[in-house]
Parts: sequence; structure tokens; C-alpha cells
Amino acid sequence: MKLVDILFLLTLAMVLSTAISSDLDPLQDLCVADLASGVKVNGFTCKEASKVNASDFFSSILSQPGSTNNTLGSLVTGANVEKVPGLNTLGVSLSRIDYAPDGLNPPHTHPRATEVVFVLEGQLDVGFITTSNVLISKTINKGDIFVFPKGLVHFQKNNGNVHASVISAFNSQLPGTQSIAATLFAATPPVPDHVLTKAFQVGTKEVDKIKSRLAPKK
Ligand SMILES: *[C@@H]1O[C@H](CO)[C@@H](O)[C@H](O)[C@H]1NC(C)=O
Ligand SMILES: *[C@@H]1O[C@H](CO)[C@@H](O)[C@H](O)[C@H]1NC(C)=O
Repeated sequence: MKLVDILFLLTLAMVLSTAISSDLDPLQDLCVADLASGVKVNGFTCKEASKVNASDFFSSILSQPGSTNNTLGSLVTGANVEKVPGLNTLGVSLSRIDYAPDGLNPPHTHPRATEVVFVLEGQLDVGFITTSNVLISKTINKGDIFVFPKGLVHFQKNNGNVHASVISAFNSQLPGTQSIAATLFAATPPVPDHVLTKAFQVGTKEVDKIKSRLAPKK
């Protein structure tokens, strides 16, 4: 990644954290997540200050392309509070998404965050759908950004014939993801067939076919 890209991302993260913060504001300098603590709070409890060091605020998890050798041809690598405990209470996080040629990051929502993607390489067809059912879509290229407003269903598709990748910034330490197809057809326990047949206006056979395709691989 070039220095200008890194500076851009840092600025983006700062703007997101101050202007349109979604997570709650911190009440202390830092509260490094104690991921091992069994105590449940809104976020994570803070690690003892004496045990905090630079590694809590560091990760190289986004430096390498993720493997896109899967059914959809895409992989999301999250650098959120679960991977970078120093993000706890700070209201920001990043992801990297890699796409094989024809790869799709399927329609999904982030219940807790707005997302801004920055294209590292390649070309993507991206879009989101408003609550009035209007599709807002565009083809974006290396160096471009695109915004997916909080909670709205969105997707990215690599229609090029080379690898593509983006960095995503979120105004949440843990944006959460609900992938529409998997949420409805691969939940445990399953969403009843009669709910899905009526919702999608198809028969049980079609619903069961989708369920079997999306079933988690054992
Ligand atoms: C930080 O502390 C952990 C143990 O809590 C240790 O494994 C690690 O090496 C330390 N890292 C730095 C950069 O000091
Ligand atoms: C992709 O995955 C399949 C099955 O999981 C495996 O057989 C194949 O070797 C993998 N290809 C590469 C290039 O990793």
C-alpha cells in the first residue's frame, strides 16, 4: 500500500470517528478489549492498563490478499475489535475484501455501521438499495471510493477478468454482517419453509434447493 493510500485511510477513519460516530464515545483514553473476560458489557471490558502494549493497537492482517477460492469468489478479512483489541470503544474498524474475477460479495447489511470502500486494485460493480427499493449503483475503479449507508443492503461484484481488492472503513468497532441469502436460508435452527415459500412466492422444492446449496460446509 502506498503512503498516500495509508494517509487517506487514516483521515477517513478520523472523519468517520468524529463526524458521524455510530458507536458510543469513549469515557477514557483507551479501553483495550479483554477478549478473554467472561463479563458481558456493551462492547468489551478493559484490559488491565499494565498489560496493555503496542501489539494491542497493531495488526498486519490486511497486508496480504485473502484466499478467494470459494463458491462466491470473494473473501472479507475484518480488522475489527476481535482482531485489534485496542479498537474497543473507539467506534472505527477496517476490512479488506478480495475478489476473484467474477467474484461476488453477496447482498448483505451492517446493522451497526456505515461503510466506505476504497478500491486498491481492479474494477467493481457496487450498489445499495434504499428503503424505498431504489438501487443506487456504479462501476468503481482503483483509487475510487463508494459509500454504503448504515443498515442498507449492498453488494460488490468483480466483473473484470483480474483480481480486485478494496479496503473498507466502518464507523463501528464491530459493524456486524447479515448476509441476506445465508441469514434466510442457512440459519440454525432453520427458518421454516412455509415462511420462505410465502415470502419468495415459490414452492418448498425451490426453498429446499437453496437451503441445501447454502448449508454450512461440514
Ligand atoms: C505485549 O504483551 C504481550 C503479552 O501480554 C507479549 O506477548 C507481547 O510480546 C508484547 N508486545 C510488545 C510489542 O511489547
Ligand atoms: C480451491 O479449492 C478446491 C476445493 O476446496 C481445491 O481442490 C483446489 O485445489 C483449490 N485451488 C487452489 C488454487 O487453491
